[in-house]
Amino acid sequence: MTNGGDSRSGVVAATPAVVQGKTILLIVGGGIAAFKALELVRELRRAGARVTPVLTENGARFVTALSLGALAEARVRTSLWDLEDEASMGHIQLSRSADLIVVCPATADLMARAATGQANDLASTLLLATDTPVLMVPAMNVRMWLHPATQRNVAQLRGDGVTVLDPDEGDMACGEFGPGRLSAVPAIMAAIAENLLPARLREELVGFSVAQDRTPPAPPASGRGELKGRHALVTAGPTHEAIDPVRYIGNHSSGKQGFAIAAALAAAGARVTLIAGPVALPTPPGVTRIDVTSARDMAAAVDAALPVDVAIMVAAVADWRVETAGSKIKKGSGGPPALHLTENPDILASVASGANRPRLVIGFAAETGNLIAQATAKLARKRADWIIANDVSQGVFGADANHVHLVSAAGAEDWGAASKAEVAARLVQRIADAL
Ligand code: C5P
Repeated sequence: MTNGGDSRSGVVAATPAVVQGKTILLIVGGGIAAFKALELVRELRRAGARVTPVLTENGARFVTALSLGALAEARVRTSLWDLEDEASMGHIQLSRSADLIVVCPATADLMARAATGQANDLASTLLLATDTPVLMVPAMNVRMWLHPATQRNVAQLRGDGVTVLDPDEGDMACGEFGPGRLSAVPAIMAAIAENLLPARLREELVGFSVAQDRTPPAPPASGRGELKGRHALVTAGPTHEAIDPVRYIGNHSSGKQGFAIAAALAAAGARVTLIAGPVALPTPPGVTRIDVTSARDMAAAVDAALPVDVAIMVAAVADWRVETAGSKIKKGSGGPPALHLTENPDILASVASGANRPRLVIGFAAETGNLIAQATAKLARKRADWIIANDVSQGVFGADANHVHLVSAAGAEDWGAASKAEVAARLVQRIADAL
């Protein structure tokens, strides 16, 4: 993705050839994943890049300057107070002489300091002093990654134009499971290559403008601050359930309706947390976006975002996940492999029945028949306050138009055919009336 955008860099077919002859300033932070930075250095050198390594004080607890310097074939910088460098304005030059700054691993602490403009060691000073593009590759414990403070910092960094990759999901060194693992080295290489492309080409490849992502939060439109002081949570898009490292089960949800609702909530003055599955949509102005991949990531991110005043669960969450294979399943003589499915958590139902239940819980129901009866049953089963029901038999997925019914204990209202933006505006008005 682009600078300041979210993070699925692997989707862009950037060729590593762009890396050749470039200078990468590599900041290695302190974390168990620091050893993978050594592998990254090897790959960068193999691709013909020059690597200028910077090791933080905590990074040096995990890898040695000796091994980093040997692989990079360059002197490792560790301290701001290197007099020789300071005499020649070393850190300013250092930060500007590179084509790209890569922070790998980017720890929660280093991201927090960068997000708040601190300059209390060499790494943070370089990040503050630079006008060179910055790519951060986070790695940390799953709770630390999902913590609202880290997510705020990530959103801030992305808003400032830094590319922050989403960490991978999996078993962690600390024994937990979830998002937080350092991206695989080939994915980091693809992201580096992508960030070295000229901005114009990158925009063409990714299909939307860098500038869009840098739009500052819009103040609520005048007279439309009805939700000021309210916190709204929106889920949107599909989820992807990994079959093996290269395949997944997904669905056709585009995320457009959920993003339109998040945008309308922000325009009405609400604080909005948008938890988005894998979609290629720009973040609406003023919205804090958390990108997730699987239903379980989404459930954890929703849990971490509570309490809120209103939850609007628009995401098309996969009902089942697959028992994921650790390596790519090969075609063999034994015929097609069996996929063992396990039921995913029902996020809407757990939010509506949980201790932190928002005052207003709204679900969506995509149905292909018996719309009102199905939605009414869903309202009771999930303990939601309202269900927005839509008939998806006529190609709503990915379209800009929608035809919904609002189903509540009071009955069903037909809202007629409307654009997704109109549905969003009407829903937000109803939410403001109800709260
Ligand atoms: O049961 P069904 O998938 O039709 O319900 C749709 C509603 O429930 C949507 O609001 C969707 O976001 C939510 N949902 C969920 N977690 C699931 C399945 C659906 O939050 N695992």
